Amino acid sequence: MPALGVNIDHVATVRQARRTVEPDPVWAAALAELGGADGITLHLREDRRHIQDRDVRVMRETVQVKMNLEMAATDEMTSIAIDIRPGQVSLVPEKREEVTTEGGLDVTGNRDRVKACADRLSEAGIEVSLFIDPDARQIDATRELGVSAVELHTGRYADAEDSASQDREFLTLVRAGEHAASRGLVLHMGHGLTYRNVSRIAAIPNVCELNIGHSIVARAVMVGMTQAVREMKSLVSG
Ligand code: PXP
Repeated sequence: MPALGVNIDHVATVRQARRTVEPDPVWAAALAELGGADGITLHLREDRRHIQDRDVRVMRETVQVKMNLEMAATDEMTSIAIDIRPGQVSLVPEKREEVTTEGGLDVTGNRDRVKACADRLSEAGIEVSLFIDPDARQIDATRELGVSAVELHTGRYADAEDSASQDREFLTLVRAGEHAASRGLVLHMGHGLTYRNVSRIAAIPNVCELNIGHSIVARAVMVGMTQAVREMKSLVSG
């Protein structure tokens, strides 16, 4: 059964819409834990559009489950992570103009930069995961860098317009998952997963962790965070 990482970025998005103090993602993380979250995921973007440095610092003290910090592979972010020491860092690509993380990290095209950050993080005792597309070349490049985990981007599966293309994208994820596991990588998946599309992904062999944000926060607005996480946890548990 995969672990459920709850991404609370969009609680901070609502707060930043008014640059005020509510809703507080720190509270949301605690309520997510009460609902059964196995991890709390948060993305400190370079433009600080949602999560702020204060959120990362406070949550480092309050979160009792695994804290997974998503960030770009830059020197500035790496220094912040080494200072804060979350349990895990997920390196993601970042473009200022994007609405959300659009594609996976191009590990093959950025080996040196990714390796420099991953090595510094590992030396500090932080687990590193690379967020990549379900592509054998990217998986192999991750393994060659000595990184131990990958998060496969499920966005194309989630955004598929009809069931035939969704089936195709699902198979791509299954094959990439097998490939990653055969290379000894710990397998995570995430992006665009919802209450409707998560069950098939949760049942893929070897998936250890799913990171889900927008759909849970959207439901939490209606039913509360603890209940929203409880419902997602039960789907993930199968
Ligand atoms: N995994 C990664 C690496 C992400 O960047 C995000 C979005 O921040 C997610 C998972 C969660 O995506 P969603 O909000 O679509 O569930």
